[in-house]
Amino acid sequence: MSGVKVLVTGGAGYIGSQVSLLLSEAGHQVLVYDNLSTGNAWAVLNGELVVGDIHDRATFRQAVRAFCPDAVMHFAASIEVGESVKNPLKYYINNTCGFSSVLEVAREEGVKNFIFSSTAAVYGLPEKELISEGDPLAPINPYGASKMMSERVLEDFASADDEFNYVSLRYFNVAGADVEGRLGQLYKNPTHLITRALKTAKGEFDKLEIYGTYYKTPDGTCIRDYIHVTDLAEAHIVALGYLIGGGESIALNCGYGRGYSVKEVVAEVKEVTGVDFTVIDCKPREGDPPRLVADNKKIMETLGWEPSHDTLHEIIKTAWEWELSLEAGAPGVRKNL
Ligand code: UFG
Repeated sequence: MSGVKVLVTGGAGYIGSQVSLLLSEAGHQVLVYDNLSTGNAWAVLNGELVVGDIHDRATFRQAVRAFCPDAVMHFAASIEVGESVKNPLKYYINNTCGFSSVLEVAREEGVKNFIFSSTAAVYGLPEKELISEGDPLAPINPYGASKMMSERVLEDFASADDEFNYVSLRYFNVAGADVEGRLGQLYKNPTHLITRALKTAKGEFDKLEIYGTYYKTPDGTCIRDYIHVTDLAEAHIVALGYLIGGGESIALNCGYGRGYSVKEVVAEVKEVTGVDFTVIDCKPREGDPPRLVADNKKIMETLGWEPSHDTLHEIIKTAWEWELSLEAGAPGVRKNL
């Protein structure tokens, strides 16, 4: 499969830009649609960028009509669990209303294939060690709820329209940077654990706070299934092939099936960076489930997805190299800050 036209909303962001790059390297044509609120124009390494908001239907319609995509990949969203608890409306407006608008316009313009960025946060407080796609969806924070609602919209929409198919990819904890060092995470106020820890090692923060040490987990801190961004991007490429090849609508977990606690991540960050930074125990962050680890059988069986960067060491090492490249002033990287 090559030469597919893919419109990527949020394609200037951390995950969307990595997916866009791999899509173009696989011979596909990419149009990025992004309002640059958290994304960066320099991150669109291949393909065209249209600067526009997902709520701006006229501009989005114009972009879709001009490009005639075979598929839309929808990344544009608000993504922080903690923020969603404090400002829920932002999440419902961007992640549920904005998504619905993208879906409606895309379908009106004839798009039949849709790949949706969903999240492990849809599961809430799972009762099993490994979460399967058929387990109950019971989010405990507005972020997860906003994505769950969008999944439901997609499901109902697809069952009413025989020509339309989607893949919802439920991301677990995405981290790491492009293995060739071209792209990585760059937010003005990063909140994710690995990025915070690396920036603390670099001296940008004076300490790392651990949010909660009395969870019912072996060391008392939350457990997450960290997945390398390049492996996640590959999952999108194979999901695209699945849809173009006539695959039916489906929701799939994207994770490795093994979890690490916050303390284990911190220890690995210290090991990789060689810096013994200050770590303090703090109260839990609202909305955090103690444990989220994927059962990934379904994505492997359905899409033939095979991760190739699946060690915590490689995730942290690539992210650390990216952090250091920012320090060294990688081309264009700091332009928009
Ligand atoms: N944490 C700390 N200190 C920090 C930052 C995070 O202790 O400075 C803890 C959090 O409390 C949590 C764990 O590290 O227990 C991971 O937190 P992240 O903020 O890195 O990620 P989340 O698990 O909150 O959320 C991420 C994505 C979501 C996605 C979810 C799926 O942001 O989009 O993973 O598991 F839904």
